[in-house]
Amino acid sequence: MGAAGEQTRKASADDGRVLISAEQIQKRVGEMAAEIAADYPEGPLYLISILKGAFIFLADLSRAMKRPAVRIEFMGISSYGNEKTSSGQVKVTRDLDVNIEGQNVLIVEDIIDSGVTLTYLTRVLEQRHPKSLAIATLLDKPERRVRPVEVKYVGFRIPDKFVVGYGLDFAEDYRNLSDIRVLGEE
Ligand code: IMP
Ligand code: MG
Repeated sequence: MGAAGEQTRKASADDGRVLISAEQIQKRVGEMAAEIAADYPEGPLYLISILKGAFIFLADLSRAMKRPAVRIEFMGISSYGNEKTSSGQVKVTRDLDVNIEGQNVLIVEDIIDSGVTLTYLTRVLEQRHPKSLAIATLLDKPERRVRPVEVKYVGFRIPDKFVVGYGLDFAEDYRNLSDIRVLGEE
């Protein structure tokens, strides 16, 4: 197989180099869940996730959280399309069904890259006056940041590589892998 960017490539289960194993992910997600549950001891906690990349992280994180009042909500935001680089355009394609005014809200993201998506989303949600608003991300690529983002919980800081698996895709492939891999090195 050639570089990940080739139009002709076919995804295979052996693609990519494992950067973070399934075991490492599960351990870290458990730690993050414990930390979050301790920081929000009372009342409902709204976990707001951006489709689709964060869906597996959200599922594991929420199940590892030993608190009952965890509310799960989804938003759709488009910024990347099927390209590896940001278009710089962000818009809400699917909004929340609930009013978050006066609620504790945690945005659950798969990866922060340029920071453009989260800068936009934070601005949108702040206008709805939640009691608190914070961000949890599984992965952070700090080298790529063009907009500063304040992130409360980070799973792993990773180098500037394009990664797939555990919810993250390349052109909609690889989301179902249970580890995180670097594409395009072969
Ligand atoms: P940002 O606005 O540049 O921070 O983009 C964040 C979004 O870009 C993520 O939610 C992903 O959908 C996508 N993205 C950024 N880096 C990667 C990557 O390495 N693999 C897969 N998707 C990525
Ligand atoms: Mg994506």
